[in-house]
Amino acid sequence: MSVETNGRFILVTGGAGFIGSHLVEELLNRGDRVRVLDNFSTGKAENLEGLGHGRWKAGVDFEVLRGDIRDQDTLDRAVAGVDAILHQAALGSVPRSVEDPITTQRVNADGTLHVFQAARQRGVRRVVYASSSAVYGDSDELPKKEGREGAPLSPYALTKRVNEEYGRLFHQLYGLETIGLRYFNVYGPRQDAGSEYAAVIPRFVTALLSGNAPVIYGSGLQSRDFTYVRDVAHANLHALDAAPEAFGASYNVGMGGRWTLLELLGALQDLLEIRIEPRHEPPRVGDVMHSSADPTLARVKLGFAGGYSLFDGLKESIEWYRRNLG
Ligand SMILES: NC(=O)c1ccc[n+]([C@@H]2O[C@H](COP(=O)([O-])OP(=O)(O)OC[C@H]3O[C@@H](n4cnc5c(N)ncnc54)[C@H](O)[C@@H]3O)[C@@H](O)[C@H]2O)c1
Repeated sequence: MSVETNGRFILVTGGAGFIGSHLVEELLNRGDRVRVLDNFSTGKAENLEGLGHGRWKAGVDFEVLRGDIRDQDTLDRAVAGVDAILHQAALGSVPRSVEDPITTQRVNADGTLHVFQAARQRGVRRVVYASSSAVYGDSDELPKKEGREGAPLSPYALTKRVNEEYGRLFHQLYGLETIGLRYFNVYGPRQDAGSEYAAVIPRFVTALLSGNAPVIYGSGLQSRDFTYVRDVAHANLHALDAAPEAFGASYNVGMGGRWTLLELLGALQDLLEIRIEPRHEPPRVGDVMHSSADPTLARVKLGFAGGYSLFDGLKESIEWYRRNLG
């Protein structure tokens, strides 16, 4: 899919993170100027190395500003002169937010409000921001459709809902061109495998590669719509080009499929040719049972449709983990 974004100056908050670093790479490949703002709390300098097959160097081909989205001076410097913001900075993970709701609120909700306000005050027209499928909360309708949200099941989900409401309001009150993207279980190269809050695909892959039993919380019959990170990057590029009728709202970024964790594990075992029985532990609070996107609205309003099958995405991810796991 081709998207015209050449020659703009884009700020990527959280650009040293998993998804942010893919955005940086795609933007540079398309000829945009890029500035990263990141406090490196979960992001890593190595995520910004070797981008574009070694073509793009941090500090040379794009700027990297180390700082916090909650700090006004830092934000003022970060937004100066940019045409648009791709706002990714946040503390991810439902369990982390259940343990520490205050920091989650400060970074995810207050931080996003600061980003919207800085954009408004400094004349940045468009902010595309990372929301989450978690906003569907306790709604058991499938597939998940925009406008059919349930009650949030975790502080993380609540902060993403709050962001969406501010996104709507900042468009209504100040004309800021806000677009929220509800990512559904993103995976791919550079996704952190080492943290206690690591997502399921890096956890399964590292367990299998190191000869350990993968841990499944609950029965393994819970299901997810796994979305490859390059598709997520393309959704962001489409949102940068979206027409005014898309502003002030949020859109699903998912494939419209659904795999149980047991099916996912089976696919990884086949691809890796390693078979180790999983170990089951009690379900985690705050987790939803099933999740799958209705991708229609994103296709209609943003012109976005995912292109990667789970099989292709897992293959690319596994190659990366094989090369990069010590
Ligand atoms: N990975 C997923 O499956 C998924 C799903 C739904 C939504 N999201 C959202 O996508 C975005 C990116 O997630 P990710 O998976 O790349 O996570 P990540 O942890 O790899 O990236 C987040 C980045 O934000 C930076 N950051 C955190 N707090 C900051 C602060 N106060 N100031 C400046 N920078 C800060 C971190 O250092 C990191 O580089 C987040 O908003 C997340 O909530 C991710």
